[in-house]
Amino acid sequence: MRVLVTGGAGYIGSHVVTQLLAQDHQVHVIDDLSNSSIEGLRRVRTITGQEVGFTRADLREKDTLTSILRSFGPDAVIHLAGLKSVSESVVRPALYYNVNLNTTLVLLAAMGDAGIGRLVFSSSATVYGVPSELPLRETSAVGMGITNPYGRTKYMNELIIADHAAAHPDFSAVLLRYFNPIGAHPSGLIGEDPAQIPNNLAPYVTQVAVGRLPYLQVFGDEYDTPDGTGVRDYVHVMDLADGHVAALSHSDAGVTAVNLGTGRGTSVLELLHAFSAVVGREIPYRIVDPRPGDVAAAWADVARARAIWGWEASRTLSEACVDAWRWQRQNPNGFSAPPA
Ligand code: UFG
Repeated sequence: MRVLVTGGAGYIGSHVVTQLLAQDHQVHVIDDLSNSSIEGLRRVRTITGQEVGFTRADLREKDTLTSILRSFGPDAVIHLAGLKSVSESVVRPALYYNVNLNTTLVLLAAMGDAGIGRLVFSSSATVYGVPSELPLRETSAVGMGITNPYGRTKYMNELIIADHAAAHPDFSAVLLRYFNPIGAHPSGLIGEDPAQIPNNLAPYVTQVAVGRLPYLQVFGDEYDTPDGTGVRDYVHVMDLADGHVAALSHSDAGVTAVNLGTGRGTSVLELLHAFSAVVGREIPYRIVDPRPGDVAAAWADVARARAIWGWEASRTLSEACVDAWRWQRQNPNGFSAPPA
């Protein structure tokens, strides 16, 4: 299949592109490189030995997008482009609504003009807000209790895509609701490279382990969870990438939401200990106040992905820690320097 990947140079995108190429799909990436690096795509070429088309552009430039759709002629679009920092979205909400909604609106219009009717969208478990039940099913309540603009843009994108699908009976859209992606490609050549101090747990832990940050702040230890720290469903980014490849097989008209997670919850301290075991020493941490907007626990029901595509996460938490640590050790400063 010919697949256009928006945001394909980022953390998740580079792994998705790698797995698409490994399955002999032809890929073109459009990315503005605002939070990613062209070096990531170079390394995808090294890993796969295959070419990836690339256009540096803002997806909201409809003329550029239209000309790519015309010349590349994709069968499907995987739409990952967007801003993703929860904390930044609280400070710059208008920017988040502008980028995350207009990219999708322009993409849908351009796909309509070009007659392309298959979309896989990068959504998030954040759409479930405060969980109404655990595990979270695709049928669980969405939209209630989302605590930040970033999360609301994901939810609004789901609504926009569903309305678009309802108005275009042949349109097929998959909403992939990611839980917490961690890990890296086993080569250690690509991985997560946050531009600023990481918001997310796993890159923060590896940056402490490599000596870039002094200690982890554990946000609260009095939640109603087995050890009092927050519980999440950490899914290996390679499994997540394989989930996108599986989603491409989906041709049912209409909109289908699918969780991508492992179905297992892991606490902050459990994850920290799993990393310590891999790194071979204690990783320093301090318990601090809970982070506003965090929920106590969230993990996925993963039955739907298994039932419709036979997809399930196959890599363990320990493998994710090994791979994340290899990436961080080999690239202590991310993509900004050659691999060690
Ligand atoms: N945590 C810490 N210290 C840190 C960072 C995180 O203790 O420095 C804790 C959090 O309190 C939480 C857990 O680690 O309990 C995971 O936090 P993350 O920030 O890594 O992930 P979140 O679950 O808060 O959010 C992530 C993504 C969102 C996405 C959401 C989907 O950042 O984009 O998963 O569930 F929407």
